[in-house]
This record gives sequence, structure tokens and C-alpha cells, in this order.
Amino acid sequence: MSALRSVVVGTGSALPRQLVTNRDLEARVETNDEWIQQRTGIRQRYIAGEGETTVSLGEAAARRALDAAGLVPADIDLIILATATPDNTFPASAVQVQRQLGIAHGFAFDIQAVCSGFVYALTTADLYLKNGMARRALVIGAETFSRILDWSDRTTCVLFGDGAGAVILEAQEVVGQGSAGDRGILVSKLRADGSHCEKLYVDGGPSSTGTVGHLRMEGREVFKHAVGMITDVVEDSFAALSIGAEDIDWFVPHQANRRIIDASAKKLGIAPEKVVITVGDHGNTSAASIPLALDTAVRDGRILRGDLVLLEAMGGGFTWGAVVVRW
Ligand code: UT7
Repeated sequence: MSALRSVVVGTGSALPRQLVTNRDLEARVETNDEWIQQRTGIRQRYIAGEGETTVSLGEAAARRALDAAGLVPADIDLIILATATPDNTFPASAVQVQRQLGIAHGFAFDIQAVCSGFVYALTTADLYLKNGMARRALVIGAETFSRILDWSDRTTCVLFGDGAGAVILEAQEVVGQGSAGDRGILVSKLRADGSHCEKLYVDGGPSSTGTVGHLRMEGREVFKHAVGMITDVVEDSFAALSIGAEDIDWFVPHQANRRIIDASAKKLGIAPEKVVITVGDHGNTSAASIPLALDTAVRDGRILRGDLVLLEAMGGGFTWGAVVVRW
């Protein structure tokens, strides 16, 4: 008797060419480097230029993840791409990445859960793999939020950036039902509460205005809910595994705001040196932020095989969720 586990076998990421510092933004809106750094921890972000899109960034991240895993595109039979900024309303950005990679088998689709998109996508891929419907999944978070920002609104335009990250999950057998010591995704908890829709949204869309629209956010309201929602869903995940914060080797949160990350880690009792923080380097990249941070910590040698890694995200909807992975 054996079961299947979804094991991470490779990570990759990609950022646009153009670097925009806080000082660069001082020329665009009434803001300053000190305010942005103190309130958010953000120093800089990357903004997509001509020819750079959600699909091109997603493809670049995917190719790096394939290289890291020692795999070729033909090895992939499921692609899930999390984005709130697709190249087109349809077809899905996932099938466009599939075409760019030269894959014509398996299946591919997008997931839209805004900043929680990567956690939702990883959980969805895990279910397909455990169920035997696919053997290797490419899970991508890719965004070009710069294209839905109101560049005259200082309360939002300084916060976001563009980028992509990807992981490859492979279904591997474990003995019996497996244990928390076996590699792979151990638990996922997802949540949504649409009563908060108007606190973080885009004021356009194909069926309402027929336009793309711009991001609108009541930042203070989002902030107020973030830490409680994050810690609740993480504590549920810990309870499901009968573990505590001390068992976690690395905490890789959604990178929205340094203050939210620090407050969540503190409330959960996770030591600061176990927290991977990249928001300063690329701002809030929505669904791309967790895989970007993961890839950073894998490539610089922090996250190692066998480590217990906690991921969490919270964003528009509200949607939120957590995943615990034995690396
Ligand atoms: O990805 C998931 C979703 N997003 C988030 O998690 C974001 C959640 N929210 C936040 O991170 C924070 O609420 C912000 C970073 C957006 C704002 O920080 P805050 O400490 O909540 O500031 P605030 O909105 O209360 O604004 C404080 C002051 C205001 O001035 P007054 O009314 O006190 O005179 C703002 O007008 O800061 C002003 N302000 C700015 N000043 C300089 C707002 N934006 C800026 C700016 N530069 N860019």
C-alpha cells in the first residue's frame, strides 16, 4: 500500500529588466524613500518594459525551474499559472506558456486568487498529482501589476512590482500514507471571504466596464485584517500536522509589507532568522512573490532538502491560505 506526495524538484524565477527605485518614484508622485521604506520595507521594484509580459516572465521562470530540476518541457503534464494580470482575458496565460515551451500534451489553466494565487495554485496542483491525474506539474505565479496601477495614486503605485516564480512538483510514492518526515506537500489550508471584495479590487473588467481598470485599495483596512487571517490559517495547518512554530525551518510569506511579515512571524512565534524576506528587492509582486522568495532562498543555500517550509499568503477577495512542505 502506498500513497503519492507532491515533491518540489525545482524552482526558478524571473524579473523584468527595468529597476525602479523609491527615489525614481519621487519624481512621479508626492512620496519619499523614507516613507516607503518605513511603512513597507520596499527599496525597489522591477517594472516590465516593451516585450515583457506575464507570459514571457512566466516562461523565463519556468525554464529556470526546469533546468534546476534537470527536466525538459516534455516531462510536464500539468501547468497551473496564478495571475491577476493575464496577457489576454483568454486564452489562459498557462496555455500560452505551454505553447512557448513547446508542450502539446497534458492540461493547463490559470488560477485567479490575487496575492494568494500561488498558494491556491500549489494546492490545486497537489490534488491533481495525488489523485494520479498528472505526474509533474509546473506551478507558476506571474504578474505585471505595473499595467493595472494608477500611476498618479501614491497610496498604491509605490507598493507593487512585476515578476514571476515557478516550482515543479513531482508525484512520488511514499510508504503507506507517509509521514511528516517524507518529502512533499504535507498540508494546505485555503480560505476566502468575499464580503471584503471592495477593500482591494480592480475597478474594471471585461463584463463590467469593458476596460482593464486600475487597482484600488483601502490599505489600512487590508493591513488590519492581514495578520489575524494569516496567523489563523497557519495555526490550523500546524494543528493538522501536530507541529509547532519551533518545527518550522523556513517561513516564506507573501511579500506585501515588511511590517505585516514581521508582525505575523512574531505572533506565530517564528524566529526572525527563519523568515525569508525579499519584499525590499522587488515590492509586492502578488502571486509571484512566494515563488520569487522561495527561489531566492533555494539558490542562496538557505532552504535545503528535508527542511520544513511554511508558505502563507493573503490578498484581494479576501483570499488567504497556508501550505507546509517538507523540501
Ligand atoms: O498583497 C496583499 C494586499 N496588500 C497589502 O497587504 C497592503 C496592506 N496595507 C499596507 O501595507 C499599508 O496599509 C500601506 C503600506 C498601504 C499604508 O501604510 P499605513 O501605515 O497603513 O499608512 P496609511 O494608509 O495610514 O497612511 C498614512 C499617511 C497618510 O497621510 P495622513 O492621512 O496621515 O496625512 C497617507 O496619505 O501616509 C500618507 N501616504 C503617503 N505618504 C508618502 C500614503 N501613501 C504615501 C506615500 N508616500 N506613497
